Amino acid sequence: LKVIATYNIKGGVGKTAAAVNLAWLSARDGARTLVWDLDPQGAASFYFRVDPRLQGGDKRLFKLLGAKRSADRYIKGTDFDNLHLLPADFAYRHMDLVLDGWKKPTNRLRKVLRTLSADYDHVFLDCPPSISLVSENIFVAADVLLVPVIPTTLSLRTLEQVLDFVNQSGLRSLQVLPFFSMVDRRKRLHCEITETLPRVVKQTLSAQIPYASDIERMGPRRAPLGSFAPPSNPAVQAYHALWEELKDEMYPPAQYARAAG
Ligand SMILES: Nc1ncnc2c1ncn2[C@@H]1O[C@H](COP(=O)(O)OP(=O)(O)OP(=O)(O)O)[C@@H](O)[C@H]1O
Ligand SMILES: [Mg+2]
Repeated sequence: LKVIATYNIKGGVGKTAAAVNLAWLSARDGARTLVWDLDPQGAASFYFRVDPRLQGGDKRLFKLLGAKRSADRYIKGTDFDNLHLLPADFAYRHMDLVLDGWKKPTNRLRKVLRTLSADYDHVFLDCPPSISLVSENIFVAADVLLVPVIPTTLSLRTLEQVLDFVNQSGLRSLQVLPFFSMVDRRKRLHCEITETLPRVVKQTLSAQIPYASDIERMGPRRAPLGSFAPPSNPAVQAYHALWEELKDEMYPPAQYARAAG
């Protein structure tokens, strides 16, 4: 099981778009794929046409985080083969408080994911934009922290904060992989930053997601981009390139063929 979190402290940078589209590509590869929508706003659940639980009580959240039983009873199917969803729950807005009640408050998500490790090859965590106890749980649970970065000066500062925070947490095995999101090549600053950042942050991925109105169409379509746009679509190709690069980071080639069955 590989756990991939799309994470940034900043909101509206393309975390959910990446989680949904990469999960769709993973499932299309034949890998057993789960998206865990950790954002109480439930955007990923919306794209997969699964209703988030609006009256979800804290008791249910407490049970889920307790991880005494497998989390599979909370999981829903989607319209796509191999692709399942753990929907958002409105109670997630209290997750910090609930987590704080445990002795080791930073390893609860990891425990929950362990109950699913035989059932899935890839779990995508779609994270809310914040830095909190939930984020620390994500850092402990994830193998890869995929960080969408819009090429602007402020975004670079937030990336620095993410990298510092992860370094301070001493999580040596967590791979932090930034990638550029919503890139507009007509903007000089975007071109400059996409050239300079990879020299400073070496692990920056080379695949870039362009600013594309087709990605916004996922909203009205309520579906991953690749399910309604043709393979020749530049944004479809960009997510495909990102997924291929991510797999190269996570697996030696022969091993992935096995994981995806
Ligand atoms: N590459 C892109 N080009 C154009 N629009 C995009 C792109 N990526 C995402 N969007 C749009 O921008 C908005 C924010 O994207 P998304 O929800 O993926 O960001 P997020 O980081 O998950 O936001 P939040 O922090 O609110 O969870 C959405 O309306 C989405 O359709
Ligand atoms: Mg989101």
